[in-house]
Amino acid sequence: MEIKVYKDKNEVAQQFSAYFAKMVEGKSEFHVALSGGSTPKIVFDVLAEEFSSKIEWDRIHFYWGDERCVPPTDNESNYKMTVDHLFSKIDVPEQNIHRVLGENDPVSEAMRYSNLLEINLDKVNAIPQFDLVILGMGDDGHTASIFPHEIELWNSEDHCVVATHPDSGQKRVSINGKVINAAKEVAFLVTGAGKAEKTNAIIKKTEGSEAYPASLVNPNSGNLVWFMDEDAASGQH
Ligand code: 6PG
Repeated sequence: MEIKVYKDKNEVAQQFSAYFAKMVEGKSEFHVALSGGSTPKIVFDVLAEEFSSKIEWDRIHFYWGDERCVPPTDNESNYKMTVDHLFSKIDVPEQNIHRVLGENDPVSEAMRYSNLLEINLDKVNAIPQFDLVILGMGDDGHTASIFPHEIELWNSEDHCVVATHPDSGQKRVSINGKVINAAKEVAFLVTGAGKAEKTNAIIKKTEGSEAYPASLVNPNSGNLVWFMDEDAASGQH
């Protein structure tokens, strides 16, 4: 596990973008699962506006680690957020964008997306393997859309599961922990003081931190990189 701490969100975005550009350089095909929420917005803006010339977008296939079960035009949609901050600014072939169909029935969509991953990705021990999974972490220690109150979904036999947001009850489709940990590399993007307590507990493996799904991220490859700002890392001292 590698921990990278930067001054603020913007520097996290700059450094992650440089890391991403270097990772995809020279690859004929690269399969990445994106995260949602607010942190990726600045990262996608920087990727699109400052690193675009360094990246051969047509080699990259975009998926989502989780998506809200809402239409693609809904402001809650991670796909819409990605269009607004990335796809609307770069030239990526439509066939390289593999969105979760949030407008569909969650259970059937989780099955469809599981099958899509099976078809599109190489498999290791029958688990679809992404080249990179980008994750965020909620203040409650959730990651992707595996929440503490449904932590048993982490080990589901289904590659994609239907999760429920603990407060809003919003349904979400999420990849499970086995798919996350099968990835060649996992990058956590965690910023803001609200994350400090859980981040500190997870990195220090303090008692009780195993209740946080983000603590279960432990790629079989060993390649896990935390990109944090000082606020999120403030509990590290
Ligand atoms: C989502 C995300 C979720 C997110 C965390 C952190 O769909 O909301 O995938 O796991 O990464 O909640 O969100 P912020 O970056 O907004 O803090």
